[in-house]
Amino acid sequence: MTILQVRNISKSFGGVRALNELSFEVEENQITGLIGPNGSGKTVTFDIITGFTKPDSGSVYFQGRAITGMKPHKIARLGLGRSFQLVKLFPNMRVRDILVFSSQTKDLRRQLEVFIPRRQREDAERKIEEVARFLGISQLMEERAVNLSYGQQKLVEIASLLVMRPEPKLLLLDEPAAGLAEHEVRNIKNILAGLKGLGKTFLIIEHNMFFIMDICEKIIVLNYGVKIAEGAPEEVRRKTEVVEAYLGSDYRA
Ligand SMILES: Nc1ncnc2c1ncn2[C@@H]1O[C@H](COP(=O)(O)OP(=O)(O)O)[C@@H](O)[C@H]1O
Ligand SMILES: [Mg+2]
Repeated sequence: MTILQVRNISKSFGGVRALNELSFEVEENQITGLIGPNGSGKTVTFDIITGFTKPDSGSVYFQGRAITGMKPHKIARLGLGRSFQLVKLFPNMRVRDILVFSSQTKDLRRQLEVFIPRRQREDAERKIEEVARFLGISQLMEERAVNLSYGQQKLVEIASLLVMRPEPKLLLLDEPAAGLAEHEVRNIKNILAGLKGLGKTFLIIEHNMFFIMDICEKIIVLNYGVKIAEGAPEEVRRKTEVVEAYLGSDYRA
């Protein structure tokens, strides 16, 4: 089943064509990778999918429904979550408070008008404990964000997605393994596999090729805003074009 469909998306900034007629699909309960050199349009693709940027043309469908041009919080509420560097935004907040913040509805009007019932608050707290246990960060809940290691920050980013209500079905992660030590990369890999086992779907931007080749069912390769390859990791790896544009000769299969 296709959960996300990107169809003929184009986007220019001034004279720069960031994306040129990009189309791809993400299958439910799979891990799909989005790779390409710096400036190839990966983050712009995420911005368009999540409603932060409007495409010049083209459409995005989530679970069969057109979401192009919808507001980011509306898209999130449909079950499409994107990780943010909350730790950078709130360096002095405790992990628990960051997760409480993430679990709250981002609809300002509802926040102002509706008193959050005790039952709902308790449900959110229970969910936060459960997610923290699953990710192995329970012991960090009272720690201030600024004191976390880079690897721990990445786990808090994933946690902040999992506590969202409604819980996202499709999770967009921008470089979850960047800058991590090998054992931390392994840990993230196990966590993503575990979440997939629980029915989650991922679209992941990542530069760590060993990570992406290992966990993805499908990889999409961008170069100058154009899709130059798409397929299973072993197919993509063999494409000479991809090797030349991005992977370098070290990575030839
Ligand atoms: N808000 C913006 N204004 C102008 N140019 C932008 C903006 N966002 C992205 N770009 C340009 O679009 C291209 C793709 O950027 P991006 O998607 O961030 O690349 P990456 O693949 O490294 O994530 C780059 O040339 C970048 O400079
Ligand atoms: Mg980027």
